[in-house]
Amino acid sequence: MLSAYDALFAAIIESVGLDIILVGDSVNTVLCGEESTHSATMDQMVYHTRIVRRGAPNTFVVFDMPFMSYQVTVEEAVHNAGRGIKETGANAVKIEGGSPRIATVQAIVDAGIAVMAHLGFTPQSVDQLGGYRVQGRGDSGNELIEDAKRLEDAGVFALVLELVPTDVAAQVTDALSIPTIGIGSGINCDGQVLVLHDLLGLNEEFQPRFLKRYASLADDVRAALTEFANEVRSGTFPDEAHSYE
Ligand code: KIV
Repeated sequence: MLSAYDALFAAIIESVGLDIILVGDSVNTVLCGEESTHSATMDQMVYHTRIVRRGAPNTFVVFDMPFMSYQVTVEEAVHNAGRGIKETGANAVKIEGGSPRIATVQAIVDAGIAVMAHLGFTPQSVDQLGGYRVQGRGDSGNELIEDAKRLEDAGVFALVLELVPTDVAAQVTDALSIPTIGIGSGINCDGQVLVLHDLLGLNEEFQPRFLKRYASLADDVRAALTEFANEVRSGTFPDEAHSYE
């Protein structure tokens, strides 16, 4: 699974056959330059999910429910999950959190909507969790495993595990029959997710230990822009090959 936010990249992802595109609320930090995901809105997520769907009509797309779109009341959560599906063509919604979200997850599943869960480091609770840090060490590992089981019982079809120690992620994966999808949670999850812009090396400031960069596109972009500017300034672009008779 990859997080992506637009039609162009969605089409490239679909062309290589990845299983799932998550339209993550990380759009707010990665593309919009915000400090956290908190200010992401339903309208923003609907917009990005709709354009991802346009670029990738045949890939399973997940709508990430933004902060405070599902925490206030169960009714509001079901209504917003419905918007996330009806207004975008997404296949599922994703919700962060464990025990406090069980009733909400159950109600959304009962409405006929597929729900992906998200445990471990949950970015919408960054301040409550004391910052960007590994979750589930020590006794809290057992709590995390119990939460995962409760979410499976409530009907989620998959679980994202973010910043969880490798052995705890392995125990969660063993304890569930649904797939786990890890990010910073080691090799034992059933699948892996990264943010597209992070793995492409476009988001240079974000350098957590778990992130492997598969390209250095920010360097490539800088080199291309420098060459363009130099050629325009020196009068070598556009040449005849790029002009009309
Ligand atoms: O918002 C997002 O992109 C996510 C993934 C990192 C799992 O939640």
